[in-house]
Amino acid sequence: MLLKRLTEACGGPGQEGEVRDLIRSEVSDIVDEIKTDALGNLITLKKGANLGPKVMLAAHMDEVALMIVSIEKNGLLKFRSVGGIDPRVLVAKSVVVGSKRVPGVLGSKPIHLQKPGERNKPLSLDELFIDIGTKKQEEAESQVSLGDYAYFTTEFSELGTDKYKGKAFDDRVGCALLIDALKDTYTYPLYGVFTVQEEVGLRGASVAGYSVNPDVALILEGTTASDVTGIPKHKHATTVGQGPSLTFMDSAAIPDPKLVAKLIKLGELYDIPVQLRRNTAGGTDAGKIQASRDGVSVAVLAIPCRYIHSPVSLMSKKDYDNALRLVKAFLKTLEESEV
Ligand code: CO
Repeated sequence: MLLKRLTEACGGPGQEGEVRDLIRSEVSDIVDEIKTDALGNLITLKKGANLGPKVMLAAHMDEVALMIVSIEKNGLLKFRSVGGIDPRVLVAKSVVVGSKRVPGVLGSKPIHLQKPGERNKPLSLDELFIDIGTKKQEEAESQVSLGDYAYFTTEFSELGTDKYKGKAFDDRVGCALLIDALKDTYTYPLYGVFTVQEEVGLRGASVAGYSVNPDVALILEGTTASDVTGIPKHKHATTVGQGPSLTFMDSAAIPDPKLVAKLIKLGELYDIPVQLRRNTAGGTDAGKIQASRDGVSVAVLAIPCRYIHSPVSLMSKKDYDNALRLVKAFLKTLEESEV
C-alpha cells in the first residue's frame, strides 16, 4: 500500500533520498518529465494539451527526526531534534540510526535513581540518549557518524474501522495524495513537486516556487488535530474524520481567500465535507511559494492528524478519500475557468 510504504521510508530534512527514490519509481510512468534540483526537490510535470494555466501541487518529503551530535565514551549517542519534536514523547521509543539503519532505543535515567523533584519534571533533551547496544565510543563510531539521523520505527497499520496509524503522516500523506492526483489526466501543465527541508524553514519550497513559476499552487499537508479529551472544542484546530481542512491563515501564509472560497464551494457542490483549520500557528510550503517571484495564488489542503510530530500519528481513511476527491474536483475546474 502506497501510504504504508511512504510512511515507513525515512527522510529527515536534507536527507530525503529514500523517500525521493520511492516517489520517483511511483510516478515515472504517469508523468512526462522528472528532475531533481540541487536541493533535492523532485519536480515532475504532466504536460497537458494546452499551455495554461500552470498549476503546481506540492507536498514535502521530509519528516521531523533526531540528529546525532555526540558519540560518548560509553557508546551512547547524544542528539538534537530537527524540526519541532516535544522531548516528552521520546523516552523509551525505538529508533533506527543512520544510513545503515542501526537499531537503537531512547534511554534515560531510570525512575529508581531520580530524585523526587526530578520525577515531577518532564525529561529535557539533555537527559536523553540513544543506546545502540555498544559499550565503547569506537564501537559506536564504526556504525554511526555525527550528523546521522535517527528515525522512529513505527509500523503503519489500520486502527479501528476508519483509521490509519503510522509515523510521518506530516507530510507523507500529502505525498500520497499528490501521487494519486497525478494518476488522472489534465488539459494544462500540472507540476507535481515533492519538496525538501520543509520542517527546518520551508527551504526546498522557496527554490521550487521560483523554478516552477506557477499561476496557482495547492499545498497538500498533514496537519494538527487536537480533538481529544481535555481540550475544549474551539481549540481543536481540526477534527479527525470531518473532512480535509483548509487554512485561512498560518504563521507563513494567508492563502488566497478567493481560492479558499472556491474550494469550499466545490466541497458543497460535490458533497465533500470540508473544515476550516481553527488555528493560526505553524507554517507550510505555501508561505514560500506564495511569495516567490511576483506572487502566486496558493491554498493549503490538509488531512487532520492526531499526535503529529511524534513517533506515531493517527488519521482517517475517509478524510483521505475526501481530500483526494476535492483535489481532483479542483484540478478539473481549472480546465474550464480562468484561475
Ligand atoms: Co508538514
